Amino acid sequence: MSTFLDAPRPETPPAGTTRFRPAIHFTARDTWLNDPNGLVFHNGIYHLFFQNNPFGNVWGNMSWGHATSPDLVHWTEHPVAIACDDVEDVFSGSVVVDHGNTSGFGTADAPALVAIYTSAYKGSSEHSGMQAQSLAYSADAGLTWNKYDENPVLTRNSSNFRDPKVFRYQGDQGAYWVMVAVEAHHQQVVFYRSDDLKSWEYLSDFGPANADAGDWECPDLFPLAVDGDPGNTKWVLIVNVNPGAVAGGSGGQYFVGHFDGVRFVPDAGSLAAPGGVSSLDAATAAAALRQCLWLDWGRDCYASVSFSNVPDGRRIVIGWMNNWDYANELPTAPWRSSMTLARELRLTAAHGALRLVQQPILAGRSEGEELIPGKQLVSAGLRELNGEALRLPDAVPGTAQIIEAEIAPGGADRLDLRIFGGRDGAAGAVLSYDTARAELSLDRRSSGDTGFHAKFASVESAPLVLEDGVLKLQVVVDHCSVEVFAQGGAVVLTDLVFPDAEHQQVWLSAEGGRATVLRLTVSSLD
Ligand code: FRU
Repeated sequence: MSTFLDAPRPETPPAGTTRFRPAIHFTARDTWLNDPNGLVFHNGIYHLFFQNNPFGNVWGNMSWGHATSPDLVHWTEHPVAIACDDVEDVFSGSVVVDHGNTSGFGTADAPALVAIYTSAYKGSSEHSGMQAQSLAYSADAGLTWNKYDENPVLTRNSSNFRDPKVFRYQGDQGAYWVMVAVEAHHQQVVFYRSDDLKSWEYLSDFGPANADAGDWECPDLFPLAVDGDPGNTKWVLIVNVNPGAVAGGSGGQYFVGHFDGVRFVPDAGSLAAPGGVSSLDAATAAAALRQCLWLDWGRDCYASVSFSNVPDGRRIVIGWMNNWDYANELPTAPWRSSMTLARELRLTAAHGALRLVQQPILAGRSEGEELIPGKQLVSAGLRELNGEALRLPDAVPGTAQIIEAEIAPGGADRLDLRIFGGRDGAAGAVLSYDTARAELSLDRRSSGDTGFHAKFASVESAPLVLEDGVLKLQVVVDHCSVEVFAQGGAVVLTDLVFPDAEHQQVWLSAEGGRATVLRLTVSSLD
């Protein structure tokens, strides 16, 4: 095998599980986290609240942790924002900036931040076993929070009514707050409206539809301009599902349609199974599941929701980079779990149907700047791939890497990008493109530690039709993750991996014919 570039060898990473700590993904310092909550941009700062166990590194004692960032890349963790207590766990929800002081929690000049979260009531509560929606507010830009003394503000006497996402709706019928939440076990999104965030009126519901074999959780609803045209706006409804996602376990699906301030109606083009896949026979259901619209085709992107209050109509999401199938067993300590990179969403009609495309946010960049701010390790033009594997530069110790490539498979049956491989070109997580199947897959069965849970070793795949015969990849590799954005972010695939310490090599190869590398850049990201 030839060596593509004789990059300096990485030092052996320090022993112990701290070596999996990501360089550019958010983790809590020494505790457990799950869903991103209350994502909001306020006074020039991005706030990331998150489901957190302040006392341990498995799920429990659910509270809202808190971190802030000026650029969505560098995060600072703060003390717990909204804590569980004797009567309730604080489950997922959202934050709004109450600009008009509709709630009375702030002033006209200094609007409060208002959190709408799910109270998951404990046995000692008068609402024992119920889930209902509650408020907390902050007058100091999100640092400290008070729970509203008349909580809960909305109950349905349900034990699975949760994950409220609230946004300001402005339309023909005026301006008001809309809450999108779920009846998780009924695979239903429920919509409510309010003028003051305190009293809520039922509007409508949606579901089951498409992937419905598990709980529906963490919904989101927002408008997006199609291909940037403000005269052509559609609504996107995100519905996370667990289990029953396309790669198994938890995952995020979406629908494109219309919201008139009362009701969400999906376009026919986003309905693969109008009554839900679980109403179909097994073979039809499996095929329909792959025709649903997925935010991510990998195993490890769940509970994705978007930021409120971001200027210029930009829509930025963060997901939890994990899967409930094995979340509590990941081989890291004392921290456990991380977030995905922040991803900017756009809606495009470019592929004949309305679909989301996603781009990772790698540093605060303004329009027109180069996407990749990292230090380039290699940049190469035209090159043939004909059976021999090329070795790409190793990651610089302590950093993450982005590999950007445009490859024409030509006569090859298969392209392989082997990440976290050995010096002998074996093992690792293998990202493959199969030309006959028109499919992109990620195989992590030999990627290192897969034995901590029976469901971890896996192969994920997504349909991918080449444009002009070219595969376009952006692959972000951090210490325990691979995030793939293919064809400009039209196909996204995220998987955790826990590589052996000495397996840090990246290899590129083609099988069955000659392929052409049109462009290849490897950059390190601090
Ligand atoms: C999703 C979820 C939410 C719930 C939270 C509890 O991962 O199950 O539905 O609010 O986690 O931590």
